[in-house]
Amino acid sequence: MDGNGRWAQKRLLPRVAGHRQGVLTLEKIVDKIYDLGVKVLTVYAFSTENTARPKDEVKNLCSLIKEFFTKKLYKFIESQISIKIIGDIDFFTQDIKAVLNEAINKTASFKNKTFCLALNYGARDEIIRAVNKAIAIGKKLTQDDFKNLLDTTNIPDPEIIIRTGGDKRLSNFLLYQAAYSELFFTPDLWPDFTIKKLKEVITEFSSRDRRFGKVK
Ligand code: FPP
Repeated sequence: MDGNGRWAQKRLLPRVAGHRQGVLTLEKIVDKIYDLGVKVLTVYAFSTENTARPKDEVKNLCSLIKEFFTKKLYKFIESQISIKIIGDIDFFTQDIKAVLNEAINKTASFKNKTFCLALNYGARDEIIRAVNKAIAIGKKLTQDDFKNLLDTTNIPDPEIIIRTGGDKRLSNFLLYQAAYSELFFTPDLWPDFTIKKLKEVITEFSSRDRRFGKVK
């Protein structure tokens, strides 16, 4: 969800206004995406690198995350969407962890639609944590074993990854799981992203030739 800061700057607003608008866009997308046949939506809301942003911005992002779940959890329950978090949430204060755990627990029984939020997430951090778990297990692992040690246990690899904001890189997002993802980069800043744009991506995805390294 890149581009919130620039969206705000263009309007001479503080960066937090961009993040706030970004949350509104996220709500619109969550509201419609599952009707398009998508089963899992994962959003990169706060990276391990984002923790080094100015204290005020980190504080604002944490408040938005808390507010989002405090106000919207009922909607996830109503729509039977299960909430999962990837990343190391030990970074967050007790009140935020409590809100996140409540959201996870109250939606855990829903199986058909998943909303996964990457918080204090970095793929390198995830992989190192998984490797350390593997060392503690102390035996050779298969790919399936290893997958189960990642934060994304039980979440399928992404078929589509969309980065808004114009940059063409993954920035430490799902590096292991993205091995065969179809990548989409759009110049739209995240607050300007729409369901129409999402539908265009899904249409192009349907026409891509996915060979997974094999000859057809
Ligand atoms: C990147 O834009 C965006 C982020 C670092 C935060 C994304 C967070 C939200 C949309 C809100 C919080 C999420 C939830 C679930 C409540 P940027 O700030 O790097 O933008 P820039 O590249 O234009 O500066």
